[in-house]
Amino acid sequence: MVAGITGLGSQVAGRPVTRELRPATCDLRPVTCDLIKSVFGIFDIMPPTLPTRAEALDLVHEYTASESLRKHMLAVEAGMRAYAEKYGEDPGRWGLAGLIHDFDYERYPNAERSPTEEHPSSGVKILREKGWPEDILQAILGHAAYCNVPRETKMAQALFAVDELTGLITATDPASLPRKPFWQKHDSKLQSSSISTISKSA
Ligand SMILES: [Fe+2]
Ligand SMILES: [Fe+2]
Repeated sequence: MVAGITGLGSQVAGRPVTRELRPATCDLRPVTCDLIKSVFGIFDIMPPTLPTRAEALDLVHEYTASESLRKHMLAVEAGMRAYAEKYGEDPGRWGLAGLIHDFDYERYPNAERSPTEEHPSSGVKILREKGWPEDILQAILGHAAYCNVPRETKMAQALFAVDELTGLITATDPASLPRKPFWQKHDSKLQSSSISTISKSA
């Protein structure tokens, strides 16, 4: 708490934001108060705080019963964290984008490929109401090409790529393959898998 300032504890989309930083009353000289308030005005337009991984995982479990879809999101999270570290970005932030990007897919599958309804738009609306930061939301929208949202950040570009690659990896999970070398294709599920089963579905 800054001396002389009483926090309002205001909220952005249900999430407390800079609770202790927003001045309601000020006991300092007026000019000092004005200066402080103008500075705190900057905080009003700052992005909301980042959700925790536990919050994201709760949402995944609440909306998604499919074990394979949960695994896909966890795999994308791992991939995003790895790429964040590679590019010197925030693994926690990128990981959250990966973990949450398909949480609404099971409930809103979007067979019509609507750019504004169902997955991922419905999920993004839910996340926005919960105060998730806009850069993650834009990345989530960007991972579905039919949303026509440009992937303007490295995080958005990585999510699009990792989502595709991870879909292939999990669809051909070695743990589910017969215990023979992969080059013995006659015994491999890879051979019997059609392109549609290993292409991106979420
Ligand atoms: Fe996905
Ligand atoms: Fe998706």
